[in-house]
Amino acid sequence: MKLGINIDHIATLRQARLENFPDPVLAAIEALEGGADGIVCHLREDRRHIHDYDVKKLRAIKNARLDLEMAATPEMVKFALKIKPDYVTIVPEKRKEITTEGGLDVVKNRKKLKDIIQKLQDNGISVSLFIDPELKQVEESAVLTAHFIEIHTGAYANAKAENQKLAQLSKIQKITEKALWVGLRVNAGHGLDYNNISDIARIEGIEELNIGFSVVARALFVGMKQAVKEMKEKIR
Ligand code: PXP
Repeated sequence: MKLGINIDHIATLRQARLENFPDPVLAAIEALEGGADGIVCHLREDRRHIHDYDVKKLRAIKNARLDLEMAATPEMVKFALKIKPDYVTIVPEKRKEITTEGGLDVVKNRKKLKDIIQKLQDNGISVSLFIDPELKQVEESAVLTAHFIEIHTGAYANAKAENQKLAQLSKIQKITEKALWVGLRVNAGHGLDYNNISDIARIEGIEELNIGFSVVARALFVGMKQAVKEMKEKIR
């Protein structure tokens, strides 16, 4: 199982003082040196953390696989077509949310998504749809011929009681199986940390976990390279 590291929160810290450091690009290089299999960043419409120039510089890192998270808007599609990341993960976006709150409603937005997915894939960019673990969302993702889904693990990460956690795990497992069955590849992420990662890492069929906040928080104390190394170890 691979590990994608989301470096948005390095930029969050930089933007807190409108400075030019800490640099998310340097963090990405350290993350790769620590064993990350790819770099993930979310270019939000309000540019609250990652900026356009960050994505351009991240794209220029040699041999670094870049996954650009973005909303399904014409502005973002135009930007992605210019930058050509390896992957685009389409996420829902609300201005006031602290972080991405839920999965994309693929069923409701099928018409808009169909065109966007086609355009990106025609230009050699693999598309992943960030969805809640729901059957109808998986089925529609397959109809829209996305290459990947990323299962939103927030409900699992937030589950307090053991039975709730187990129910979420079972849901994620079943959705993974269904997605593979209909020809999708499967990633997962959101809210994963050093304590809750093991059970998710046991689910067969998930290719990659995308993790940001917990690794960046750990990196404050041990450095990015070590924080990534520890997460890789946990996954293994
Ligand atoms: N995957 C997606 C699609 C996300 O939007 C985020 C949050 O930016 C993550 C993974 C990482 O979540 P976290 O920062 O909670 O690890």
